[in-house]
Amino acid sequence: MAKYTVVSMPGDGIGKVVLPEAVRVLDAVGFDADYVHAEIGWERWINDGNPLPQATLDLLKRHKLGLFGAITSKPKGEAAKELRPELRDKGFVYYSPIVGLRQAFNLDVCIRPCRSFPGNPLNFIRQKAGGGFEEPKVDVAVFRQNTEGLYAGIEWTDPPQQVRDALATHPKFKAFEHVRSADLAISTRVFTRNACRRIVEAAFRYAKRHGYHSVTVCEKPNVLRETSGMMEEVAKQVHKDYAEIQLWSTNIDAQMMWLTKNPEDYSVIVAGNMFGDIVSDAFAGLVGGLGFACSANIGDEVAVFEPTHGSAPKYEKLDPPIVNPIAMILSAAMMLDHIAETDKAKAVRDAIASVVKEGKVRTYDMMRIPGGPDSISKGAATTTQVTDAIIARLG
Ligand code: NAI
Ligand code: MG
Repeated sequence: MAKYTVVSMPGDGIGKVVLPEAVRVLDAVGFDADYVHAEIGWERWINDGNPLPQATLDLLKRHKLGLFGAITSKPKGEAAKELRPELRDKGFVYYSPIVGLRQAFNLDVCIRPCRSFPGNPLNFIRQKAGGGFEEPKVDVAVFRQNTEGLYAGIEWTDPPQQVRDALATHPKFKAFEHVRSADLAISTRVFTRNACRRIVEAAFRYAKRHGYHSVTVCEKPNVLRETSGMMEEVAKQVHKDYAEIQLWSTNIDAQMMWLTKNPEDYSVIVAGNMFGDIVSDAFAGLVGGLGFACSANIGDEVAVFEPTHGSAPKYEKLDPPIVNPIAMILSAAMMLDHIAETDKAKAVRDAIASVVKEGKVRTYDMMRIPGGPDSISKGAATTTQVTDAIIARLG
Protein backbone atom coordinates (compact mmCIF):
# COMPACT_ATOMS: atom_id res chain seq x y z
CA MET A 1 0.00 0.00 0.00
CA ALA A 2 1.23 3.51 -0.81
CA LYS A 3 2.15 5.97 1.95
CA TYR A 4 -0.63 8.40 0.97
CA THR A 5 -4.04 8.21 -0.66
CA VAL A 6 -5.05 11.31 -2.57
CA VAL A 7 -8.64 12.00 -3.58
CA SER A 8 -8.57 13.06 -7.21
CA MET A 9 -11.43 15.39 -8.24
CA PRO A 10 -10.87 16.47 -11.85
CA GLY A 11 -14.34 18.03 -12.10
CA ASP A 12 -15.29 19.59 -15.44
CA GLY A 13 -13.72 20.90 -18.63
CA ILE A 14 -9.98 21.42 -18.48
CA GLY A 15 -9.95 20.18 -14.88
CA LYS A 16 -10.05 16.75 -16.52
CA VAL A 17 -7.07 17.71 -18.69
CA VAL A 18 -4.72 19.24 -16.13
CA LEU A 19 -5.26 17.04 -13.08
CA PRO A 20 -3.86 13.85 -14.67
CA GLU A 21 -0.84 15.91 -15.78
CA ALA A 22 -0.12 16.84 -12.16
CA VAL A 23 -0.38 13.18 -11.17
CA ARG A 24 2.18 12.29 -13.85
CA VAL A 25 4.58 14.82 -12.30
CA LEU A 26 3.90 13.54 -8.76
CA ASP A 27 4.64 9.97 -9.92
CA ALA A 28 7.80 11.09 -11.68
CA VAL A 29 9.12 12.88 -8.58
CA GLY A 30 8.67 9.65 -6.62
CA PHE A 31 5.69 10.66 -4.50
CA ASP A 32 4.37 7.45 -2.95
CA ALA A 33 0.60 7.74 -3.37
CA ASP A 34 -2.51 5.99 -4.59
CA TYR A 35 -5.26 8.09 -6.16
CA VAL A 36 -8.98 7.53 -5.73
CA HIS A 37 -11.30 9.21 -8.19
CA ALA A 38 -14.17 11.30 -6.82
CA GLU A 39 -16.91 13.02 -8.75
CA ILE A 40 -17.76 16.69 -8.50
CA GLY A 41 -19.34 19.25 -10.78
CA TRP A 42 -21.73 19.66 -13.65
CA GLU A 43 -22.40 16.00 -14.59
CA ARG A 44 -23.49 15.31 -11.02
CA TRP A 45 -25.64 18.45 -10.95
CA ILE A 46 -27.57 17.66 -14.12
CA ASN A 47 -28.01 13.98 -13.28
CA ASP A 48 -28.56 14.06 -9.49
CA GLY A 49 -29.32 17.70 -8.67
CA ASN A 50 -26.24 17.80 -6.42
CA PRO A 51 -22.81 18.85 -7.75
CA LEU A 52 -21.01 17.66 -4.58
CA PRO A 53 -21.89 14.00 -3.92
CA GLN A 54 -21.79 12.59 -0.40
CA ALA A 55 -19.41 9.87 -1.66
CA THR A 56 -16.86 12.58 -2.49
CA LEU A 57 -17.21 14.12 0.97
CA ASP A 58 -16.79 10.65 2.52
CA LEU A 59 -13.60 9.98 0.56
CA LEU A 60 -12.12 13.31 1.60
CA LYS A 61 -13.05 12.74 5.22
CA ARG A 62 -11.26 9.44 5.08
CA HIS A 63 -8.13 10.34 3.14
CA LYS A 64 -7.69 14.02 4.14
CA LEU A 65 -5.85 15.08 0.96
CA GLY A 66 -7.51 16.20 -2.26
CA LEU A 67 -6.48 17.45 -5.67
CA PHE A 68 -9.17 19.41 -7.48
CA GLY A 69 -9.20 20.46 -11.14
CA ALA A 70 -12.05 22.88 -11.91
CA ILE A 71 -15.80 22.92 -12.15
CA THR A 72 -18.29 24.62 -14.40
CA SER A 73 -20.70 26.93 -12.59
CA LYS A 74 -23.72 28.69 -14.04
CA PRO A 75 -26.21 31.16 -12.59
CA LYS A 76 -29.10 29.63 -10.65
CA GLY A 77 -31.74 29.92 -13.41
CA GLU A 78 -29.52 28.60 -16.20
CA ALA A 79 -28.36 25.73 -14.01
CA ALA A 80 -31.95 24.74 -13.22
CA LYS A 81 -32.78 24.56 -16.95
CA GLU A 82 -29.99 22.04 -17.56
CA LEU A 83 -31.17 19.53 -14.96
CA ARG A 84 -32.41 16.29 -16.48
CA PRO A 85 -36.14 16.65 -17.05
CA GLU A 86 -37.23 14.41 -14.16
CA LEU A 87 -35.41 16.65 -11.68
CA ARG A 88 -36.71 19.99 -12.93
CA ASP A 89 -38.99 22.06 -10.67
CA LYS A 90 -38.29 19.73 -7.75
CA GLY A 91 -36.62 22.42 -5.66
CA PHE A 92 -33.00 21.64 -6.52
CA VAL A 93 -30.90 24.80 -6.26
CA TYR A 94 -27.43 24.96 -7.77
CA TYR A 95 -24.50 25.93 -5.54
CA SER A 96 -20.79 25.98 -6.28
CA PRO A 97 -19.39 22.63 -5.13
CA ILE A 98 -15.91 24.04 -4.48
CA VAL A 99 -17.39 26.68 -2.18
CA GLY A 100 -19.46 23.85 -0.64
CA LEU A 101 -16.34 21.74 -0.14
CA ARG A 102 -14.53 24.59 1.61
CA GLN A 103 -17.48 25.04 3.95
CA ALA A 104 -18.11 21.31 4.54
CA PHE A 105 -14.57 20.76 5.91
CA ASN A 106 -13.97 24.28 7.17
CA LEU A 107 -11.07 24.73 4.73
CA ASP A 108 -10.82 28.26 6.00
CA VAL A 109 -7.22 29.05 5.17
CA CYS A 110 -6.64 29.64 1.48
CA ILE A 111 -3.07 30.25 0.34
CA ARG A 112 -2.39 31.66 -3.11
CA PRO A 113 1.28 32.17 -3.84
CA CYS A 114 2.10 34.53 -6.70
CA ARG A 115 5.80 34.30 -7.58
CA SER A 116 7.39 35.29 -10.83
CA PHE A 117 9.50 32.70 -12.60
CA PRO A 118 12.50 34.37 -14.27
CA GLY A 119 12.16 34.25 -18.04
CA ASN A 120 8.38 34.03 -18.08
CA PRO A 121 7.32 36.31 -20.95
CA LEU A 122 4.06 36.98 -19.07
CA ASN A 123 5.82 38.61 -16.11
CA PHE A 124 4.86 42.19 -15.33
CA ILE A 125 7.31 44.82 -16.57
CA ARG A 126 7.40 48.50 -15.72
CA GLN A 127 8.65 51.54 -17.52
CA LYS A 128 11.59 53.24 -15.83
CA ALA A 129 11.54 56.98 -15.28
CA GLY A 130 14.70 57.44 -17.34
CA GLY A 131 13.55 55.22 -20.19
CA GLY A 132 13.70 51.48 -20.73
CA PHE A 133 11.93 48.78 -18.73
CA GLU A 134 12.47 46.75 -15.62
CA GLU A 135 10.94 43.56 -14.32
CA PRO A 136 10.28 43.71 -10.57
CA LYS A 137 10.48 40.37 -8.78
CA VAL A 138 7.04 39.48 -7.46
CA ASP A 139 7.01 37.14 -4.47
CA VAL A 140 3.67 37.36 -2.72
CA ALA A 141 1.53 34.85 -0.85
CA VAL A 142 -2.10 35.85 -0.41
CA PHE A 143 -3.89 34.40 2.63
CA ARG A 144 -7.59 34.52 1.92
CA GLN A 145 -10.25 33.71 4.53
CA ASN A 146 -12.08 30.99 2.68
CA THR A 147 -15.42 30.31 4.34
CA GLU A 148 -17.04 33.53 5.56
CA GLY A 149 -17.59 37.08 4.43
CA LEU A 150 -19.55 37.76 1.29
CA TYR A 151 -19.13 34.14 0.13
CA ALA A 152 -20.84 32.62 3.16
CA GLY A 153 -24.00 32.57 1.06
CA ILE A 154 -26.30 34.40 3.49
CA GLU A 155 -28.23 36.47 1.01
CA TRP A 156 -31.72 37.27 -0.20
CA THR A 157 -33.65 38.88 -2.96
CA ASP A 158 -37.07 39.73 -1.54
CA PRO A 159 -35.96 39.20 2.07
CA PRO A 160 -38.46 37.89 4.65
CA GLN A 161 -40.04 40.42 6.98
CA GLN A 162 -37.93 39.27 9.96
CA VAL A 163 -34.81 40.22 8.02
CA ARG A 164 -36.27 43.63 7.25
CA ASP A 165 -37.22 44.05 10.89
CA ALA A 166 -33.73 43.17 12.04
CA LEU A 167 -32.17 45.58 9.57
CA ALA A 168 -34.57 48.30 10.64
CA THR A 169 -32.87 48.28 14.05
CA HIS A 170 -29.92 49.93 12.31
CA PRO A 171 -30.29 53.68 11.74
CA LYS A 172 -28.71 53.44 8.28
CA PHE A 173 -31.52 51.21 7.09
CA LYS A 174 -33.83 54.24 7.09
CA ALA A 175 -32.54 55.05 3.63
CA PHE A 176 -33.97 51.74 2.32
CA GLU A 177 -37.20 51.54 4.27
CA HIS A 178 -39.31 52.68 1.33
CA VAL A 179 -37.93 49.99 -1.03
CA ARG A 180 -40.29 47.11 -1.81
CA SER A 181 -38.87 43.74 -0.69
CA ALA A 182 -39.13 42.44 -4.24
CA ASP A 183 -36.72 45.20 -5.26
CA LEU A 184 -34.27 44.57 -2.44
CA ALA A 185 -31.23 42.28 -2.73
CA ILE A 186 -29.03 41.73 0.30
CA SER A 187 -25.73 39.83 0.55
CA THR A 188 -24.31 39.79 4.05
CA ARG A 189 -20.66 40.07 5.01
CA VAL A 190 -20.21 38.03 8.16
CA PHE A 191 -16.79 37.91 9.87
CA THR A 192 -16.08 35.98 13.07
CA ARG A 193 -13.19 36.75 15.40
CA ASN A 194 -12.14 33.13 15.44
CA ALA A 195 -11.86 32.87 11.65
CA CYS A 196 -10.03 36.22 11.47
CA ARG A 197 -7.57 34.96 14.04
CA ARG A 198 -7.00 31.68 12.19
CA ILE A 199 -6.24 33.34 8.85
CA VAL A 200 -4.06 36.05 10.38
CA GLU A 201 -2.13 33.54 12.48
CA ALA A 202 -1.61 31.34 9.44
CA ALA A 203 -0.26 34.36 7.55
CA PHE A 204 2.20 35.32 10.28
CA ARG A 205 3.37 31.71 10.77
CA TYR A 206 4.02 31.46 7.04
CA ALA A 207 5.85 34.79 6.96
CA LYS A 208 8.09 33.69 9.81
CA ARG A 209 8.81 30.25 8.38
CA HIS A 210 9.68 31.63 4.95
CA GLY A 211 11.59 34.69 6.14
CA TYR A 212 9.22 37.38 4.84
CA HIS A 213 9.57 40.86 6.33
CA SER A 214 5.94 41.95 6.37
CA VAL A 215 2.31 40.91 6.60
CA THR A 216 -0.18 43.28 4.98
CA VAL A 217 -3.82 43.27 5.99
CA CYS A 218 -5.71 44.25 2.83
CA GLU A 219 -9.25 45.28 3.73
CA LYS A 220 -11.28 48.50 3.87
CA PRO A 221 -11.63 49.38 7.57
CA ASN A 222 -12.40 53.05 6.97
CA VAL A 223 -15.71 52.06 5.33
CA LEU A 224 -16.39 48.46 6.42
CA ARG A 225 -15.70 49.40 9.99
CA GLU A 226 -17.13 46.32 11.65
CA THR A 227 -15.86 43.47 9.49
CA SER A 228 -12.60 44.88 8.10
CA GLY A 229 -12.19 46.56 11.47
CA MET A 230 -12.31 43.21 13.23
CA MET A 231 -9.68 41.74 10.89
CA GLU A 232 -7.38 44.70 11.58
CA GLU A 233 -7.88 44.53 15.31
CA VAL A 234 -7.09 40.81 15.38
CA ALA A 235 -4.00 41.39 13.22
CA LYS A 236 -2.67 43.93 15.71
CA GLN A 237 -3.11 41.42 18.53
CA VAL A 238 -1.48 38.52 16.66
CA HIS A 239 1.37 40.79 15.57
CA LYS A 240 2.48 41.08 19.20
CA ASP A 241 3.87 37.53 18.93
CA TYR A 242 5.80 38.38 15.75
CA ALA A 243 7.77 41.50 16.58
CA GLU A 244 10.38 40.74 13.88
CA ILE A 245 7.73 40.99 11.13
CA GLN A 246 6.18 44.33 10.18
CA LEU A 247 2.41 44.66 10.08
CA TRP A 248 1.14 46.83 7.23
CA SER A 249 -2.39 47.74 6.34
CA THR A 250 -3.73 48.71 2.92
CA ASN A 251 -7.17 49.39 1.54
CA ILE A 252 -8.22 46.97 -1.20
CA ASP A 253 -8.80 49.73 -3.75
CA ALA A 254 -5.45 51.41 -3.11
CA GLN A 255 -3.75 48.01 -3.10
CA MET A 256 -5.08 47.30 -6.58
CA MET A 257 -3.38 50.48 -7.77
CA TRP A 258 -0.13 50.00 -5.90
CA LEU A 259 0.40 46.45 -6.97
CA THR A 260 1.33 47.51 -10.46
CA LYS A 261 3.43 50.35 -9.08
CA ASN A 262 5.57 48.55 -6.53
CA PRO A 263 4.62 44.86 -6.38
CA GLU A 264 8.08 43.91 -5.13
CA ASP A 265 7.36 45.65 -1.80
CA TYR A 266 4.66 43.17 -0.74
CA SER A 267 5.15 39.70 0.64
CA VAL A 268 2.39 38.09 2.72
CA ILE A 269 -1.08 39.58 2.25
CA VAL A 270 -4.06 38.63 4.38
CA ALA A 271 -7.66 39.44 3.53
CA GLY A 272 -11.27 38.36 3.88
CA ASN A 273 -12.92 36.10 1.34
CA MET A 274 -13.92 38.57 -1.38
CA PHE A 275 -10.95 40.93 -1.18
CA GLY A 276 -8.62 37.93 -0.94
CA ASP A 277 -10.15 36.57 -4.14
CA ILE A 278 -9.68 39.91 -5.89
CA VAL A 279 -6.18 40.72 -4.73
CA SER A 280 -4.91 37.19 -5.44
CA ASP A 281 -6.16 37.33 -9.04
CA ALA A 282 -4.52 40.71 -9.42
CA PHE A 283 -1.13 39.51 -8.19
CA ALA A 284 -1.50 36.34 -10.29
CA GLY A 285 -1.87 38.62 -13.30
CA LEU A 286 1.63 39.97 -12.64
CA VAL A 287 3.24 36.53 -12.69
CA GLY A 288 1.64 34.81 -15.67
CA GLY A 289 -2.08 34.76 -15.00
CA LEU A 290 -4.38 31.79 -14.73
CA GLY A 291 -1.92 29.32 -16.22
CA PHE A 292 0.34 29.89 -13.19
CA ALA A 293 -2.12 30.57 -10.36
CA CYS A 294 -2.08 27.79 -7.77
CA SER A 295 -3.78 27.49 -4.40
CA ALA A 296 -4.29 25.49 -1.24
CA ASN A 297 -7.49 25.26 0.84
CA ILE A 298 -6.48 24.13 4.29
CA GLY A 299 -8.54 23.05 7.28
CA ASP A 300 -7.65 21.33 10.52
CA GLU A 301 -8.15 17.87 9.03
CA VAL A 302 -8.64 18.07 5.29
CA ALA A 303 -6.71 20.01 2.65
CA VAL A 304 -7.57 20.45 -1.03
CA PHE A 305 -5.20 21.85 -3.66
CA GLU A 306 -6.42 23.46 -6.87
CA PRO A 307 -5.47 25.84 -9.66
CA THR A 308 -7.52 29.02 -9.41
CA HIS A 309 -8.60 28.90 -13.03
CA GLY A 310 -11.98 27.53 -14.06
CA SER A 311 -13.03 24.80 -16.47
CA ALA A 312 -12.39 26.90 -19.64
CA PRO A 313 -15.13 25.01 -21.54
CA LYS A 314 -14.04 26.38 -24.92
CA TYR A 315 -10.80 24.38 -24.67
CA GLU A 316 -12.01 21.20 -23.07
CA LYS A 317 -12.58 19.24 -26.25
CA LEU A 318 -9.41 20.28 -28.09
CA ASP A 319 -7.30 17.32 -29.07
CA PRO A 320 -4.42 17.58 -28.40
CA PRO A 321 -5.11 19.74 -25.35
CA ILE A 322 -3.50 23.17 -25.35
CA VAL A 323 -4.01 24.59 -21.85
CA ASN A 324 -1.20 25.31 -19.44
CA PRO A 325 -0.83 22.55 -16.80
CA ILE A 326 1.57 24.61 -14.61
CA ALA A 327 -1.07 26.07 -12.24
CA MET A 328 -2.30 22.55 -11.47
CA ILE A 329 1.23 21.16 -11.11
CA LEU A 330 2.19 24.04 -8.77
CA SER A 331 -0.94 23.24 -6.73
CA ALA A 332 0.25 19.63 -6.46
CA ALA A 333 3.62 20.97 -5.24
CA MET A 334 1.74 22.88 -2.53
CA MET A 335 0.23 19.56 -1.46
CA LEU A 336 3.75 18.13 -1.16
CA ASP A 337 4.74 21.09 1.04
CA HIS A 338 1.67 20.58 3.19
CA ILE A 339 2.63 17.00 4.04
CA ALA A 340 6.29 17.97 4.56
CA GLU A 341 7.53 16.34 1.33
CA THR A 342 9.49 19.54 0.96
CA ASP A 343 12.34 18.23 -1.18
CA LYS A 344 9.91 16.83 -3.73
CA ALA A 345 7.96 20.10 -3.75
CA LYS A 346 11.16 22.00 -4.42
CA ALA A 347 12.21 19.58 -7.15
CA VAL A 348 8.89 20.15 -8.95
CA ARG A 349 9.14 23.94 -8.69
CA ASP A 350 12.77 23.92 -9.83
CA ALA A 351 11.82 21.80 -12.83
CA ILE A 352 9.04 24.25 -13.75
CA ALA A 353 11.44 27.18 -13.30
CA SER A 354 13.94 25.53 -15.60
CA VAL A 355 11.39 24.87 -18.36
CA VAL A 356 10.02 28.42 -18.11
CA LYS A 357 13.48 29.96 -18.18
CA GLU A 358 14.61 27.96 -21.19
CA GLY A 359 11.48 29.10 -22.99
CA LYS A 360 11.44 26.38 -25.65
CA VAL A 361 8.28 24.59 -24.57
CA ARG A 362 5.43 27.04 -24.05
CA THR A 363 1.67 26.71 -24.10
CA TYR A 364 -0.26 29.29 -26.13
CA ASP A 365 -0.79 31.63 -23.17
CA MET A 366 2.97 31.94 -22.65
CA MET A 367 3.36 32.82 -26.31
CA ARG A 368 0.71 35.52 -26.09
CA ILE A 369 -1.21 34.05 -29.01
CA PRO A 370 -4.93 33.24 -29.05
CA GLY A 371 -5.83 29.78 -27.85
CA GLY A 372 -7.53 27.51 -30.34
CA PRO A 373 -7.12 24.48 -32.56
CA ASP A 374 -4.41 26.22 -34.61
CA SER A 375 -2.23 27.42 -31.72
CA ILE A 376 -0.11 24.27 -32.08
CA SER A 377 0.62 25.02 -35.74
CA LYS A 378 1.65 28.51 -34.63
CA GLY A 379 4.36 26.99 -32.44
CA ALA A 380 2.63 26.51 -29.09
CA ALA A 381 3.35 23.34 -27.15
CA THR A 382 0.58 20.99 -26.10
CA THR A 383 -0.37 20.47 -22.46
CA THR A 384 1.35 17.09 -22.52
CA GLN A 385 4.56 18.47 -24.00
CA VAL A 386 4.86 21.02 -21.20
CA THR A 387 4.38 18.29 -18.59
CA ASP A 388 6.90 16.06 -20.37
CA ALA A 389 9.44 18.91 -20.35
CA ILE A 390 8.89 19.42 -16.61
CA ILE A 391 9.27 15.70 -15.93
CA ALA A 392 12.48 15.60 -17.98
CA ARG A 393 13.97 18.28 -15.67
CA LEU A 394 13.15 16.50 -12.43
CA GLY A 395 16.65 15.08 -12.38
P1 NAI B 1 -11.69 30.17 -16.76
O1 NAI B 1 -10.63 30.29 -15.73
O2 NAI B 1 -12.23 28.82 -16.98
O3 NAI B 1 -11.14 30.68 -18.14
C1 NAI B 1 -10.86 32.03 -18.46
C2 NAI B 1 -9.87 32.07 -19.61
O4 NAI B 1 -8.58 31.88 -19.04
C3 NAI B 1 -10.03 30.90 -20.57
O5 NAI B 1 -10.83 31.20 -21.64
C4 NAI B 1 -8.63 30.68 -21.02
O6 NAI B 1 -8.35 31.61 -22.04
C5 NAI B 1 -7.80 31.06 -19.84
N1 NAI B 1 -7.33 29.91 -19.07
C6 NAI B 1 -7.86 29.39 -17.95
N2 NAI B 1 -7.13 28.39 -17.51
C7 NAI B 1 -6.10 28.27 -18.37
C8 NAI B 1 -4.97 27.40 -18.44
N3 NAI B 1 -4.74 26.45 -17.54
N4 NAI B 1 -4.12 27.56 -19.48
C9 NAI B 1 -4.31 28.51 -20.38
N5 NAI B 1 -5.33 29.35 -20.37
C10 NAI B 1 -6.22 29.24 -19.36
O7 NAI B 1 -12.85 31.19 -16.35
P2 NAI B 1 -14.26 31.47 -17.04
O8 NAI B 1 -14.17 31.34 -18.53
O9 NAI B 1 -14.73 32.72 -16.46
O10 NAI B 1 -15.20 30.34 -16.49
C11 NAI B 1 -15.41 29.09 -17.12
C12 NAI B 1 -16.15 28.19 -16.15
O11 NAI B 1 -15.31 27.89 -15.03
C13 NAI B 1 -17.39 28.85 -15.57
O12 NAI B 1 -18.40 27.90 -15.49
C14 NAI B 1 -16.95 29.29 -14.19
O13 NAI B 1 -18.02 29.37 -13.30
C15 NAI B 1 -15.98 28.20 -13.81
N6 NAI B 1 -14.97 28.58 -12.81
C16 NAI B 1 -14.61 27.60 -11.94
C17 NAI B 1 -13.62 27.83 -11.01
C18 NAI B 1 -13.19 26.69 -10.15
O14 NAI B 1 -13.48 25.57 -10.46
N7 NAI B 1 -12.47 26.93 -9.07
C19 NAI B 1 -12.95 29.12 -10.93
C20 NAI B 1 -13.35 30.07 -11.95
C21 NAI B 1 -14.34 29.80 -12.84
MG1 MG C 1 -11.38 33.96 -8.10
